Amino acid sequence: MIKSENIVIFEHPLIQHKISLLRDKATGTNEFRKLVDEIAMLEGFEALSDLPVEDVEIETPIEKCKTPMIAGRKLAVVPILRAGLGMVSGILALVPNAKVGHIGMYRDEETHQPQEYYCKLPDPIEERLIVVCDPMLATGGSAVDAIDQIKKHGGKNIKFMCIIAAPEGLEKLHKAHPDVQIYVGHLDRQLNEDAYICPGLGDAGDRIFGTK
Ligand code: URA
Repeated sequence: MIKSENIVIFEHPLIQHKISLLRDKATGTNEFRKLVDEIAMLEGFEALSDLPVEDVEIETPIEKCKTPMIAGRKLAVVPILRAGLGMVSGILALVPNAKVGHIGMYRDEETHQPQEYYCKLPDPIEERLIVVCDPMLATGGSAVDAIDQIKKHGGKNIKFMCIIAAPEGLEKLHKAHPDVQIYVGHLDRQLNEDAYICPGLGDAGDRIFGTK
């Protein structure tokens, strides 16, 4: 794992192996979904490693003891529509009680300004750790815009998780939101002229939902 200021790039062999399977164009929808789920869970394990714990008293079959459990910190998972939806169940497998928000952005073709077409976040958003997820961090435009919107709605403590990032998008997101901890499964080479990540895996949303 490469860790620099607020950026974590995973090198774990299990994550790398699963990303290689994801990239393969022969991998079908069912397998693709499962892999996204598993990678989100593996990344989430690290991304949530600083969740605070508090000692609670329980009774084992042997005796009473104080033992650590996740403290009352409120968590929200916020997928960026639509491909981010594919990562939600993997994170919820780790923290089943987390609330789930949704954010959808599009860019106005004339003004090029980001427009939020859907945003529903769990209250009180300002008190929650918010994990924003999107499998592909390409230009960084939608991640930056989504996090701008979440901050406007009051979000303060934000992490961003993706599976594959392009250097261009990673730099843009980190510059725009240096306070946001970014988790990257693999850093790819570059974007192509159509803003696809190379070598990438194609369109993550289409591959998760079986559309084309
Ligand atoms: N979104 C995708 O799904 N794939 C890319 O390569 C870039 C953006």
